[in-house]
Amino acid sequence: MMKRSAKIVRLCQCLLALCFSSCGGIQNSINPAGPQAQSLSRLWWLMFTVNAIVFVLVMIAVLLTLRKRMREPQSATTPILEPSPGEERRRRNVVLTAVTITVIVLFVFLIASFSAGRAVTANLANKNGLVVEVTGHQWWWEVRYLDVDASNIFTTANEIHIPVGVPVLFNLKGGDVIHSFWVPNLAGKRDLIPGKNSTAWLQADKPGVYRGQCAEYCGLQHAKMALWVVAEPQEQFNAWRQNQTQTSVQPASDSQKRGQQVFLSSTCVMCHSINGTPAGSNIGPNLTHVASRNTIAAATLANTRDHLAQWIKDSQSVKPGNKMPQNSFSEADLQALLDYLQSLK
Ligand code: CUA
Repeated sequence: MMKRSAKIVRLCQCLLALCFSSCGGIQNSINPAGPQAQSLSRLWWLMFTVNAIVFVLVMIAVLLTLRKRMREPQSATTPILEPSPGEERRRRNVVLTAVTITVIVLFVFLIASFSAGRAVTANLANKNGLVVEVTGHQWWWEVRYLDVDASNIFTTANEIHIPVGVPVLFNLKGGDVIHSFWVPNLAGKRDLIPGKNSTAWLQADKPGVYRGQCAEYCGLQHAKMALWVVAEPQEQFNAWRQNQTQTSVQPASDSQKRGQQVFLSSTCVMCHSINGTPAGSNIGPNLTHVASRNTIAAATLANTRDHLAQWIKDSQSVKPGNKMPQNSFSEADLQALLDYLQSLK
């Protein structure tokens, strides 16, 4: 049977986890889903538990002292007595004990923090040779899958797929200003600094969809710079990757053909790429497989037809200050463009 103290600790953990998850959607650093996040979570619980115990002890000491003082008869004429030698020794011992305990606790924190840092940055074996390059832009994530075989290299945005149970190496870059890559359930934060490359390892131990968030203020729409990490079994990942390396599907229906023409003859091509077409700019997200993604606008909107239309017509109403201009297509052109974009699985 679970011991009573263990039950209380578990209850506290659940309550805190609930608080944190309701604050930040399903991203939750104390609900770890991988070894890196696990060691950070352990460190957090150690610090929380020790600090909570210290807080309670200090409060008890304060209350006991207050009670003692209130019971002593006090008046303006009460002389302040020098403490007796025995009392003096007792007080010195109390202070010495408190200082010793504080130093020990700080050393324990130092060692725990150091070892958690080592666990997070450990140079893990790159079992599958998979390297994901993430570049932070105002306000979206460019995601490039690198590979020794050039035909396996592709670029996507705001949605990262990784195979379960395998450490994946991330190369992190800052595209314009400083951003910070943070997927709380999987690993700690890592700054993306322009001109300075850094690396991180991410590993998910169970399949799932984990939300990530830019964790460094990077301008007006910093809060709307999120991403999703989809951890899936190796076979499913391979299938996804295989699809992403393909060029875009050719438009099949008349409407899709018209949509492609609308895309290629408008300002869309100034910023976006669709592999297999003349559109090859990389100022904005690569749209080769945009319909395969779950969200648009850096996880701000679900990838539905209505949201896509809203974003194309007036993205500024969703995310003021982003680099995409307003577009005034005729209704027929817009519907054709949507048909085309939604075919890009
Ligand atoms: Cu990017 Cu905050």
